[in-house]
Amino acid sequence: MMNVKYIIRTLTIVVGASFLAPIAAEAAGGAKHPHKHEWHFDGPFGTYDKNALQRGYQVYEQVCSNCHGLKLVSFRNLGQKGGPFYLDSCPAGVPESIDCSNPNDNPVVKALAANYKFQVTDGPDDTGEMFTRAALPSDRFPGPYANDQLARLANNNALPPDMSLIAKARASGPDYIYSLLTGYEEPPSTVEIAPGQYYNPYFPGDMTQNMKPEYMHDGHPVDGVKAPPGGVLAMAPPLADGIIEYGDDSPQTTEQYAKDVVEFLMWAAEPKMEARKALGVMSIIYLIILAGILYWSYRKIWADQH
Ligand code: HEC
Repeated sequence: MMNVKYIIRTLTIVVGASFLAPIAAEAAGGAKHPHKHEWHFDGPFGTYDKNALQRGYQVYEQVCSNCHGLKLVSFRNLGQKGGPFYLDSCPAGVPESIDCSNPNDNPVVKALAANYKFQVTDGPDDTGEMFTRAALPSDRFPGPYANDQLARLANNNALPPDMSLIAKARASGPDYIYSLLTGYEEPPSTVEIAPGQYYNPYFPGDMTQNMKPEYMHDGHPVDGVKAPPGGVLAMAPPLADGIIEYGDDSPQTTEQYAKDVVEFLMWAAEPKMEARKALGVMSIIYLIILAGILYWSYRKIWADQH
């Protein structure tokens, strides 16, 4: 009897604690919870929306790449099956001998690499010097800064993180990035923000450090005043309505840009997601059929045994 009571008590504590943990985490982090968004890639049957991937690439290329690298992604990945610029057949005018489904020969990918805004550092050449050249499909994306020191120098001492895995490296990555990009607000009047810093209620931080002295007492906000949620970061709001011209008729708004770039960043972080999900679904179907066969043979074998 003691044992059962003990188990029940332990279970109650464990279950109770798991409900309380998120509350504690919120109290410590203090950032607003990101909006839950419906994504094309959600769920066991989710896939990437190819048009959104192409627009998202455009947003990354025109805006984010000025500060954020994408160093784990190669141009050729863009032309792989499931990628934004995959082609299953060649556009008109390409010689028949070329297989455009091969990302290295994909003409769109070749052009994107060759005309990319940053060049690749290669070498050393015969005289021992490093040199720069236009990118090839086989190259990784060249980043905006030669090293972290230069990156910090250009960004008020903050390091813009590489974007290759960011959608997976943050809790609720896609929802968080979307909320961060669309969620910048004027800071409340109770806080003071240093130049080069921007208030965002979704960025994890502790705004008590930014409270004006008249609202603080003994290191805590005075009665009736609360530190606002979120934190400050060194990234100015990177998006604004109309800054990117889309080739299709999608809305040219901050929200749409943010949505598309998140789709692209999710693909960059998990380009093989569709294959993984397809395998999962096939395994479930296989197991259901197998269970059916086993049940049927069980009935058959034991039919005459009483
Ligand atoms: C002018 C430079 C600049 C541009 C353009 C820019 N960022 Fe940033 N970004 C930064 C810097 C700097 C940080 C680090 C901020 C900090 O830690 O204070 C950052 C941080 C981030 C973070 C990380 C937040 C975290 O949780 O650590 C994300 C996500 C992000 N940027 C996404 C983007 C996206 C997507 C774009 C394009 C739409 C973009 N950024 C454009 C400079 C930039």
